[in-house]
Amino acid sequence: MSDIVIRELQPEDAEKLIAYIKRIGGETDNLTFGPEGFPVTVEQEKAMLRSKTEHPKSVMYGAWRGEELIGDGSLDAMPRRMSHRAELGLTVVKEMWNKGIGSRILEKLIEYAKEAGIEILNLEVRSDNLPAIHLYEKYGFQRIGTSPAFFKIGDAYYDFELMYLDLRAKKESA
Ligand SMILES: CC(C)(COP(=O)(O)OP(=O)(O)OC[C@H]1O[C@@H](n2cnc3c(N)ncnc32)[C@H](O)[C@@H]1OP(=O)(O)O)[C@@H](O)C(=O)NCCC(=O)NCCS
Repeated sequence: MSDIVIRELQPEDAEKLIAYIKRIGGETDNLTFGPEGFPVTVEQEKAMLRSKTEHPKSVMYGAWRGEELIGDGSLDAMPRRMSHRAELGLTVVKEMWNKGIGSRILEKLIEYAKEAGIEILNLEVRSDNLPAIHLYEKYGFQRIGTSPAFFKIGDAYYDFELMYLDLRAKKESA
């Protein structure tokens, strides 16, 4: 996996990110979108990436195999009285699952969060998404509880686990 480079996404990566989102949306039902991706223009995506690069507590990393985007991971800072928290997202293209790329991106996100002074990371994950739950627990995330019928895909409902990582505790015990 030494040929995979993980770096912060920049506004000029917008077109590749839009195509990537559509690709992964067609590969898994674990995400909030399907193969249609998000209805955003390249300019809107550029603006989103620019605001992430400028925000002190938000980031989006991409995993690259040459010029091909094959994974992404993001932290989105919360506002106001929640500004000590950030919401985490993580995806890898299906053909590259179980090769350690998700772990590498997650390590970068946790490192970024610690350096940025983020105290709590939150995420939601489909309750039957065992690889993702395993991965998050491996890095210390804990389950808070289950949110029933979080997704509805066709006529089927899917529960989600709410998970969090408390970086304050890590700081104290370090
Ligand atoms: C979740 C996801 C990002 C993981 O990426 P990845 O590159 O495959 O992650 P890694 O290879 O680093 O780790 C996968 C882990 O799951 C484990 N795993 C695989 N199948 C498993 C299963 N059925 N049950 C439990 N653990 C499983 C692997 O053994 C590995 O753990 P290990 O490192 O302790 O051996 C990827 O599967 C993905 O993009 N899924 C679709 C999108 C998604 O669900 N994103 C998460 C939304 S919250």
